[in-house]
Amino acid sequence: MTAEPIPAAAERDPILLQLSKRPVPYPPQVQQSLREEARLIIDRYPQPRSALLPLLHLVQSVEGYVTGTGIAFCAEQLGLTDAEVTAVATFYSMYRRTPTGDYHVGVCTNTLCAVMGGDEILAALARHLEIAAGETTPDGTITLDHLECNAACDYAPVVMVNWEFFDNQTPESARRLADALRAGLEVTGTRSGAPLCTFRETARILAGFPDRRPEANDGRPGEPTLAGLRATGEQAESVTAQQDSSSEQGDR
Ligand code: FES
Repeated sequence: MTAEPIPAAAERDPILLQLSKRPVPYPPQVQQSLREEARLIIDRYPQPRSALLPLLHLVQSVEGYVTGTGIAFCAEQLGLTDAEVTAVATFYSMYRRTPTGDYHVGVCTNTLCAVMGGDEILAALARHLEIAAGETTPDGTITLDHLECNAACDYAPVVMVNWEFFDNQTPESARRLADALRAGLEVTGTRSGAPLCTFRETARILAGFPDRRPEANDGRPGEPTLAGLRATGEQAESVTAQQDSSSEQGDR
């Protein structure tokens, strides 16, 4: 077998480097109010750069995702480079890099949720909404996504809408949830006391601004979580009792 000859440089297809456009700054009014809000956030931290995560949520609340403009804004406020801000924004999956609908519907497809039906739910929603994971419905209501484990395995399979849990889902309940969101009905997560707000409003709350929805902070842990807590406590007590008994025997 003979190796293909490598074409001379002049014969190869040119490799074009796509340079991104310079971000367009926010309109002056938006810039002004964002600066004031950014200052409130930055002042909560001993080092300005520690405010990067909430600032990224703040800029996400403006456009529904983290744009080049948002990255440049965060960099300017914190004395960082655009590359440093980009490195953080692209590491965490809560920061979206493409336009997001009013409701970000994330289906957990990590191990436990997947075997309990998460894969089936994602497939059912994709068929029902006629979009693939990562896409947004044409009316801009729902962005469908798959999520990694959200530490809610005791309620598998779970769906999160704008980071609020919807526990023990089925393809049918997930379709009903999507229909209610698209119809503009009031929808409340399984563990929250307050109806969902939009993705942008959620981003603002995550930036550290008060959640003014009545009963928003009245959620309570469910029975599976409490059962796990009880079992851990009992196990810890039994280990302590065993250790006490061994040390007593050692003293004799
Ligand atoms: S695997 Fe889905 S929440 Fe843990």
